[in-house]
Amino acid sequence: MITPTIADALNQQVAREFYSAYFYLSMSAHSDSIGLKGFASWFMAKYQEELQHAMKFYKYLLDQGATVKLLPIEQPPSTYEGALAMYEATLAHEQQVTGNLNDLIDLAMSKRDHATQIFLHWFITEQIEEEATVTEIISKIKLVGNHGDGLFMIDNMVGQKLPSASTSTMATTPTN
Ligand code: FEO
Repeated sequence: MITPTIADALNQQVAREFYSAYFYLSMSAHSDSIGLKGFASWFMAKYQEELQHAMKFYKYLLDQGATVKLLPIEQPPSTYEGALAMYEATLAHEQQVTGNLNDLIDLAMSKRDHATQIFLHWFITEQIEEEATVTEIISKIKLVGNHGDGLFMIDNMVGQKLPSASTSTMATTPTN
């Protein structure tokens, strides 16, 4: 059983993970609309990954006997100024998520809630990989250019190396 304070904080994280999913779905739609199919696939995979993150928190709340509160999800932007801008926005967003997770761990530590700390470790590790992957894509776009043939080359490369939440042995598949 977790405390109401921890449950509230975790419910806020459920909404943040769903916002992340929305954010990446929006960038997938924008990429698709400007002909960048590889980026569209990559952001669609990120959308799926974030849904899985949200469902991990959802399931943890239920497992701990807490009430799931589905809070409002903010509307993400609908248009972006090119691939570099999308990946820079992705990195800034993931860094913010890392900060949110660190705050959650701090809260769990202050409440001596060891179960929640252990639960959060998977997400902390996941963030390291996510930020590294996005940083690498940003470097490549900067190297070959944000336009023309170079951009199409990166689009093709990124479309063949999709993010996958299911690679972790600790990943749980949402059942609903
Ligand atoms: Fe679910 Fe990358 O944060």
